[in-house]
Amino acid sequence: RRLVVLVSGSGTNLQALLDAIEADPGYGARIVAVGADRAGIAGLERAERAGLPTFVVRVADFADRAAWDAALTAATAAYEPDLVVSAGFMKIVGKDFLAAFGGRFVNTHPALLPSFPGAHGVRDALAYGAKVTGCTVHFVDDGVDTGPVIAQGVVEVREDDTEDALHERIKDVERRLLVDVVGRLSRDGYRIEGRKVRIPA
Ligand code: GRF
Repeated sequence: RRLVVLVSGSGTNLQALLDAIEADPGYGARIVAVGADRAGIAGLERAERAGLPTFVVRVADFADRAAWDAALTAATAAYEPDLVVSAGFMKIVGKDFLAAFGGRFVNTHPALLPSFPGAHGVRDALAYGAKVTGCTVHFVDDGVDTGPVIAQGVVEVREDDTEDALHERIKDVERRLLVDVVGRLSRDGYRIEGRKVRIPA
């Protein structure tokens, strides 16, 4: 399976996928390119260190979101991915991207959806006083963090947790969850039936 991974930041989820693929010849997928919505991020450096092609599609370079969405779709499609993985990609894709990759576009979110969707899931769970939170790997649909759930992992919230401390503990679980899910989707095949995801197909 050919993977394109989209990042916006440090890329530790990307790194977890790179390490898993290198460690296991039978993983069932390989990353063919890494895309980002901004330049100069560690996620792109990780891709370059791994010798992977990268692309950057910045919202500011386009007249409007629709043009950006079309450009991101074309840049991604050029690598003919079987599966696209958003690993900390912090932009909401549009209808072109979903038309091209819906049903084969996976996102990881650092909260237990449907709780705390959006760009500040860790901060929101902490502020709410949640006792447990975690991470969710899901297919992307036309909502924000609303697509069919594939897997979730639970993380305890501690009394004196800061957002960063909690997010780091979530990311430990999230990286393992994402590696497991992407591997199973790639090796075993899958079928999406409404809100249910069946693996194997
Ligand atoms: C991850 O926790 C992801 O769920 C969230 O941002 C973080 C990205 O981390 N959207 P990294 O860039 O993979 O290190």
